[in-house]
Amino acid sequence: MPRNWKTKLIHSDAHAPEGFKSLAPATYRGSTVLFPSAAAVQDTWDQHAVGYTYGLYGTPTTLELAARICELENGYRTFITPGGQAAISLVNFAFLKAGDQILVPESIYYPNRKFSAEVLVRFGVEVTFYQPTIGADIATVFHKNTRLVWCESPGSISMEVQDIPAIAAAAHKIGAIVVLDNTWSAGICFDAFAHGVDVTMQALTKYVGGHSDFLLGSITVRDDAAYQRIGSAHQLLGFAASPDDCTLALRGLKTLAVRLAAIEKSALALAQWLATRTEIELVLHPALPSCPGHEFFKRDFTGSTGVFSIVFQKHFTKEQVHAFVNNLDLFKIGYSWAGVTSLAVAYDFDSRPDRPAYGHRIVRLNIGLEDIADLQSDLEQSLQKIR
Ligand SMILES: Cc1ncc(COP(=O)(O)O)c(C=O)c1O
Repeated sequence: MPRNWKTKLIHSDAHAPEGFKSLAPATYRGSTVLFPSAAAVQDTWDQHAVGYTYGLYGTPTTLELAARICELENGYRTFITPGGQAAISLVNFAFLKAGDQILVPESIYYPNRKFSAEVLVRFGVEVTFYQPTIGADIATVFHKNTRLVWCESPGSISMEVQDIPAIAAAAHKIGAIVVLDNTWSAGICFDAFAHGVDVTMQALTKYVGGHSDFLLGSITVRDDAAYQRIGSAHQLLGFAASPDDCTLALRGLKTLAVRLAAIEKSALALAQWLATRTEIELVLHPALPSCPGHEFFKRDFTGSTGVFSIVFQKHFTKEQVHAFVNNLDLFKIGYSWAGVTSLAVAYDFDSRPDRPAYGHRIVRLNIGLEDIADLQSDLEQSLQKIR
């Protein structure tokens, strides 16, 4: 029966020719997924088990990104979330219940800390913060109800490298799980599962994306039990990720190796040069002996990336440290590191008694893909201005 043109707008017989083969992966968008029959309709999140059922659980684009991250991290399965912070909250919601104790290092990404201190506490979870350098002594802060130990290595801003195998061994003795924010290593320079971690998360926003133009996160698990828990919580919290952003992340993966190699080289060279400057008391780069936990970096990591911190000598005022950041030209001021543009952010630990005593003198640098000599000149001209 001939159909009205308005119906044809929705149900058309016109199609593009088939057979297009491209190097660029297709972007599959979609909420509705079609079923072959009434009886086949189901709302199961595990699309590896039952096939595609609903866009919330991932389109082929989302699941391809998940599979690629999982392959790089040597995991069992990966979930993609709308951002790194979403991955953090999803892990917590998946594993914790009222009455459990969670352990969080003082060096954790600040919104992760706040999620524990402000949200989990409201849901009756006992939150204990620990020093990131604690190692096997983590057992001294375990309670009977310890369920989950967060790690981030190196830690945000203060860059302590953690003794993950020691923490994991202690946690596993009491049946607790270890979750690692593995964003700094891009899931590449630290093989989390080989070092005893049970669940990893990454802000794909950072190195996987690499161009500061989207937000995504990932959670990778080592076994099916964790896969089931996270999958169910992912469905119920509705953490759908945009397939368009996943396409950008898939593109980012193609250049990850060359970006990481260039960034590692520049960051190391600049960290070593900054360590020679009289204005700087301390360079907190995991590959330098001046960084707490450097011995664990040497033992456990296969390389470094581009974020590190510098601590100015004690006589520098907050105004001088801010002037150093403001006078930089190539280094821009802003959050979300790991893109191609170098960044500098000044922090103030004065209100954080549990963090190292760097006060207002700590500045975190993100090294991008600019020429090393130009970045060094930029740092030098700015250091000279505050002498
Ligand atoms: C270590 C770390 N984890 C997680 C996140 C959160 O990622 P997103 O910005 O994608 O939510 C960030 C963001 O800066 C981070 O630095």
